[in-house]
Amino acid sequence: MKKFFLAHFILAFPLAAIDHGPLVQWFADPCHQAEIRWIQNQPPKDGDGFAVGYRIVGQKDYQWQNAASQPFAATKRMVFSASLSSLQADTVYEFAIRSSKNQEKNPDSWKFRTSPEKFRPMHFVIGGDMYHKRSLLDAMNANCGKQDPLFAALIGDLAYSNNRDAARFCEWIDSWTDHARAPDGRLIPMVVCIGNHEVDGHEYTPEKGNPGAAAATEFYSLFKMRHNGQRHVSSYNVDFGDYLSLHLLDSGHTQRISEQVDFIKESLEARKNTRFVFAAYHRPAWGTGCKPDAAEIQKNWTPLFEKSGVDAVFEHDHHTYKRTWPITAGKRDDAHGLPHLGDGAWGVDVREPAPAEVAKRKWLAHQAPKNHLIRVDLSEKGFTAAAKTADGKTFDSATYPMRK
Ligand SMILES: [Fe+2]
Repeated sequence: MKKFFLAHFILAFPLAAIDHGPLVQWFADPCHQAEIRWIQNQPPKDGDGFAVGYRIVGQKDYQWQNAASQPFAATKRMVFSASLSSLQADTVYEFAIRSSKNQEKNPDSWKFRTSPEKFRPMHFVIGGDMYHKRSLLDAMNANCGKQDPLFAALIGDLAYSNNRDAARFCEWIDSWTDHARAPDGRLIPMVVCIGNHEVDGHEYTPEKGNPGAAAATEFYSLFKMRHNGQRHVSSYNVDFGDYLSLHLLDSGHTQRISEQVDFIKESLEARKNTRFVFAAYHRPAWGTGCKPDAAEIQKNWTPLFEKSGVDAVFEHDHHTYKRTWPITAGKRDDAHGLPHLGDGAWGVDVREPAPAEVAKRKWLAHQAPKNHLIRVDLSEKGFTAAAKTADGKTFDSATYPMRK
């Protein structure tokens, strides 16, 4: 009877229950830092909070630190977060969560691997436009886990909440935590970027609007973002040792295109000796014809990427797959051009651009209305970008030499 009562009590009041998550977000330095973030549906009672404990797998003791908390946008839900730092590179960590007052520990623990500090052949996955239907999202997230990537770069239109549907973002997190698991159960760290459906009114206002974080409070409260000295912005860099840099940019959703030019110039200049440099943003400059091309990006950003030796640009938003030829100013240039890859169809209903629109776009080397993620394999000689459907099959692939 006593045993039954105890079991019933535990089921009714799970210890330090986690409602949605946790996620591992990579922000500035994935070799040594990790952001652990999750959502609770209700504020904790009596001022209670949470602590996150972490240890290298195999070590006995957790190192505990209190989690910070803030409201999830304008809801009663709370985002909890812990910034883990001084981590060892290329190491599998385990973390656990407990309530900060009575130290009741959630029975689960989660693992993730930090990034190597020195280059070795590795792969990551990238995509955008994730959640129209749960079945599509779950299947591609599971495929992502099966690829066992170093990380996943998720480039906008994550939950399609339009900053008005926090519950939908919670479902997006649930799907990630449940399905995007490496074969050994590790969580896949994510790098995130903003899209138009993170914003109230799902706006694309490349030059007129400049609403800042206030228009995308779900995105900006759920994820760590850069503070530029004046406000939080969603353009930032992620640096993997001296061998890989990602430039995540806001393609006209909460920041103007033109206001990011100086940031891009400085970022690229500071990383001119980095082995691989990729730029990623949501709205395509060199698209498929599903929507007009972002002329402001063509004008303001593309010349900077071309000049600085960016290896490839990843674009999304059109709900189809595309691979351009290596291009300079939109024209095929096999010797010096930049491939633009993507067009965003992780877990959305796909679009087929009109043949006349495709025909106008001579930069397109391949286009296909297929749900996909792109797996990018980095090697000593260059990189391969392979587009894969949810069942893991490759339907398009291209290999590029080192540009530097
Ligand atoms: Fe979009």
